[in-house]
This record gives sequence, C-alpha cells and structure tokens, in this order.
Amino acid sequence: MAATPPRGRLEGKNAIVTGAGGGIGLETSILFAREGARVLMADISEPALAKAQAKVKKIVPSAPRVETIKCDVSKESDVKAMIDSQDSWGGTDVIFNNAGIMHADDADAVDTPEKIWDMTHNINVKGVWFGSKHAVLSMRRNKKTRGSIINTASVVALVGSATPQLAYTASKGAVLALTRELAVVHAREGFRFNALCPAPLNTPLLQDWLGDDQPKRFRREVHFPTGRFGEAIEQAHAVVFLASDESSFVNGTDFVVDGGMSRAYVTPEGPAAPAPKNLGS
Ligand SMILES: NC(=O)c1ccc[n+]([C@@H]2O[C@H](COP(=O)([O-])OP(=O)(O)OC[C@H]3O[C@@H](n4cnc5c(N)ncnc54)[C@H](O)[C@@H]3O)[C@@H](O)[C@H]2O)c1
Repeated sequence: MAATPPRGRLEGKNAIVTGAGGGIGLETSILFAREGARVLMADISEPALAKAQAKVKKIVPSAPRVETIKCDVSKESDVKAMIDSQDSWGGTDVIFNNAGIMHADDADAVDTPEKIWDMTHNINVKGVWFGSKHAVLSMRRNKKTRGSIINTASVVALVGSATPQLAYTASKGAVLALTRELAVVHAREGFRFNALCPAPLNTPLLQDWLGDDQPKRFRREVHFPTGRFGEAIEQAHAVVFLASDESSFVNGTDFVVDGGMSRAYVTPEGPAAPAPKNLGS
C-alpha cells in the first residue's frame, strides 16, 4: 500500500497575519506557509511587507499562496478590506491579530502623554477588536464551522513591572479580556479565540529600544530562568499550534510563551541556555 504523503498542519486554511513585516509576524508567516496555509501578510509598512514576502517565498518555495496587503489595523475600513479580500480565496479560517506598538514615550501614570495612550490603544486594542469583528463576520459569511483567532497580548498583562509602560500594559490587559470574552461568546459557532502572551523578545520592537544599554538589558534578562530573551520563532511555533485543529479544545487561554519568566522567583546563574535561530531574520 502506498504511503500517504505528509500533510501540512494548516493545509487548506486561509490565514491572515497582521504585523507581518517583521518579528513574530514574519516568523509566523513563514511557518504558516511551511504548514500549507495560504497566507495574507498585512502590515502598515509596504517596504517591510515586500521584503518579508520575498523572504517567505524564498524560504518556502512550495508555499501555496503568499500575498500582501497594506493595512493600518487602527482603521476599521482597512481591516475590513483586508479580511474581505480573502473571500475570493474561500474566506478566512485563521487570523493572527499581532500588529502592535510600544511607544518610547510611554511611561508611568504621571508622565504618559494622553496622545501616546490613545495611539497605543487605537492600534493594540481597537486593531484586535476590528480584526476579531471582521473575522467573525467573514467566517459566518463563508459558512465556516471552525475558525481560529489568535490575538497578541504580552506577559506584561500578567505580571507588573517597575519599568512601566502604562499605556502598553493596559492595552495588553484589554486584549486578554476581550479575547476571553469572545472565546466564550463564539464557542458554539466553532470559532476559537486565544491570546498569545510573549515574554520580552529579541525583535526590533524591544531591542531597538534597549540598544547598547547593558544595565537596562541585564535588569530584564535576569528574570529569565533561561538567561535569555525569547526568539520570534518560539512564538510562531505556538501560534501554529493555536491556528491548527490540533488545538481544537484550547479556547479562551492566556497562552504564555515566556521561557518560565512569569513563573520564576530566583533565577539560575551561569551562561544562558541556547536559543533557536529565526528563519526570516
Ligand atoms: N518583542 C517583544 O518583546 C514583545 C513582547 C510581548 C508582546 N509583543 C507583541 O508582539 C507583537 C509583535 O511584536 P514584534 O516584537 O514582532 O514587533 P515588531 O516591531 O518586530 O513588528 C510589529 C509589526 O507591526 C507593524 N505595525 C505597527 N503598527 C501597525 C499598524 N497600525 N497596522 C499594521 N501593522 C502595524 C510594524 O510595521 C511591524 O512590522 C506586538 O503586538 C507586540 O506588542 C512583543
């Protein structure tokens, strides 16, 4: 009897990744494509998208479909157009609402400018709401009986930090709460909602901000049992699981991918544990 050819874990699924121009979004787009999904990569930056799409196509030449769309997730008309554009593919099965910002002027209760608060919430919270709303409408319109919506939060929504970025932290707490509620609301339609909680990572979002400031870096690194920040690909692997039918009974979770950081008190000494290599950066 001929062996059955291996199937990708996301074969036949139409997936959208926001913030796909770099970091977690790029690594996830690569793994989604490798697992057989048709991927629509979205970002506010067209140059970043073009580079990211070329990388995905180079790394996964067998990818069934990899397209891009410019989308500012804080604008509902952009998000609607992005999701509606997948109707011609058969409708969205998976959306990873991942785009987010952490502004350099974000500070504590006293010093955070209101405009930074509003900007952060418009992108990090409203963006996730719009993505969730139009995903539900699309899944209903396209008669889906299963769907997976994954929203990027952060461990800062779970543990407090003495180096506050209050607007960012509050925005990620909102992502956890809205994701949990939607998970319950839509469970009998087969639409699952989970929040990803990454720890601080080796991506430009954090690393550009830390720069060469070693004390600033050490103050954070010491909290990791592994002695190192996470890599984007370590988040992407978790997102593949949440997107796939393997996680059919995983719903409404705060899916923490943090190397044990939020579980640690005193961390080990000595050299850091080795990190995996990202595929796209
Ligand atoms: N890097 C970390 O340490 C860390 C930790 C926890 C959570 N997160 C979250 O993970 C997500 C991805 O972060 P990353 O580290 O990959 O960051 P990144 O900065 O490498 O990538 C974010 C992408 O989002 C895009 N983007 C920004 N504003 C947008 C908008 N309005 N509309 C569409 N796209 C927009 C950017 O152009 C960029 O390509 C974010 O939600 C972030 O808050 C990151």
